[in-house]
Amino acid sequence: MNSRSFVAIGDLNKQELLDLLERTRYFEEHPNSRLLDSRVVATLFFEPSTRTRLSFETAVNRLGGRVIGFSDASTSSTSKGETLKDTIKMVSNYADIIVMRHFLEGAAQYATEVTEVPIVNAGDGANQHPSQTLLDLYSILKTQGRLDGLTITMVGDLKYGRTVHSLIMAMRHFKPVFNFVSCPELRMPEEYIKLCRREGIEFHEYTEFSQEVIDASDIIYMTRVQRERFSDIMEYERVKNLYTLHNSMLATSKPTVRILHPLPRVNEINIDVDENPKAYYFEQARNGVFARQAILTRALGINPLSK
Ligand code: CP
Repeated sequence: MNSRSFVAIGDLNKQELLDLLERTRYFEEHPNSRLLDSRVVATLFFEPSTRTRLSFETAVNRLGGRVIGFSDASTSSTSKGETLKDTIKMVSNYADIIVMRHFLEGAAQYATEVTEVPIVNAGDGANQHPSQTLLDLYSILKTQGRLDGLTITMVGDLKYGRTVHSLIMAMRHFKPVFNFVSCPELRMPEEYIKLCRREGIEFHEYTEFSQEVIDASDIIYMTRVQRERFSDIMEYERVKNLYTLHNSMLATSKPTVRILHPLPRVNEINIDVDENPKAYYFEQARNGVFARQAILTRALGINPLSK
């Protein structure tokens, strides 16, 4: 694998994560430059996206680079039967780096094995979403002033929600307490439960999104039930609206608590939360541009801090 690829957040050690957060802060302060002048970035989205694709493309544009790619694989030769391997090898002829989202778990890792061009994982099935995690970490750091010792409550689809999987991997360095709130069908997969046990991380599993849990939280991370991952649509219908955060539920929460959501939301956060200063999900998405500038420059071996 190309050492600069960005496939899983667990591939980075604590110092590398902190370096990326410092880069992200730099780009928030200096979003426009020519650091990617003459570089071509391919964005290959085999699954739908609004935030991830557009924030990667904004990141490139603000750094003076060029973007090629597709937002709908049905317009590419994938629809004629071209394999992922051939697609990656072809695009490697045209681009300096490939950002890809794919519905198959492990697709980004596989791509690194067929090209020397750095691969950035923009989400692979229910597995990982590491660029989302960097912007989540940055959002947590910005709003809490620290990463260490926070109580983080994850709510909703903890089984298929790749953002919560990646966030656990990253937060394991910072002594968190996790509350996992889900129905039994969508509980946190065993591999992440085992990881918490192995790393000595305190965690609690709940089926009820109680006031006690809300009031103890520093971060409440709401997630959408991932309809596209269900093979049985009746099962989706049964669990899709189990957890909704309403403004009234935040009345006794910590003044410093912040509500995060990777978005898109469906019914997990009522719109009456949007005007509450504790709501941070739209700012969180904005931080994605700076986080993705940090990821792209790192993957291309460009250090903005030394320029
Ligand atoms: N958070 C996120 O991945 O959003 P999109 O699916 O719109 O990219």
